[in-house]
Amino acid sequence: MAHERRRTAQVRIVADPDALNRAAAGEFVARARRAVQAFGRFSVALAGGSTPRGLYALLAGAPYRNRIRWERVHVFWTDERCVPSDHPESNFRMAHECLLSRVPMPDANIHQVQTGRGDPAFVARAYERTIRKWFRLPSGAFPEFDLVVLGLGEDGHTASLFPNAKALHETRRLVIDTAGGRPNVARVTLSVPVLNHAQRLLWLVAGASKASVVRRVLREPARCDELPAQRVHPSHGTSLWLVDREAARLLARPNAIMRR
Ligand code: 6PG
Repeated sequence: MAHERRRTAQVRIVADPDALNRAAAGEFVARARRAVQAFGRFSVALAGGSTPRGLYALLAGAPYRNRIRWERVHVFWTDERCVPSDHPESNFRMAHECLLSRVPMPDANIHQVQTGRGDPAFVARAYERTIRKWFRLPSGAFPEFDLVVLGLGEDGHTASLFPNAKALHETRRLVIDTAGGRPNVARVTLSVPVLNHAQRLLWLVAGASKASVVRRVLREPARCDELPAQRVHPSHGTSLWLVDREAARLLARPNAIMRR
């Protein structure tokens, strides 16, 4: 697996969160244009948390907004907290406020996790059906999102895949229910194989509080149960880590653009 991660992950260090947002917006636009040109549509799974806010807000304004054919964009979520969609901790709400309500995207293209429709296990099964239907997946197949945006928690989690959680070992389901994180609530999350089938993973990591976990995930030997992010590496796609200088300060060559 160490070899696999080296082959597919590029780490780009940027000056600060503003530079990170600009680099991420450029990447989003490039991936959207490429997918629309190739397939007529662009499928993206959005992370929650606070780091991607700046990216989503940037995409809603010039010059990025006009570079994307929003009617061809289909938005999903990497994970969702099981709270109502107007709750301050809802990942849907954050993306909707910052981006989705500001761009000309049909409602039918917004594939929200329906958190109000039952217990977390039911919500996860329903979201799995939504994904299967949209990608027209035969049984046993995994979707290939054109882009998956990911964050990294200080404890090494990504999406809602938390350290030592049973969810980390899922090999067949696309979406599973779990719990943990901040806020510590029930959640649903894409499974590791779904993340790993993506065409492109875009990691966004900023701030000094992430420096230690960035080093552990990217530079230390694999401890995949303790550091779920180490499980996530594309099987045939690629991944780009955008890390700001503060978060990268414990990497060996903090000012370099590194290919791994
Ligand atoms: C969530 C997230 C989660 C997040 C990380 C990083 O819903 O909680 O999707 O995986 O990306 O916790 O969060 P920050 O960007 O807030 O540091």
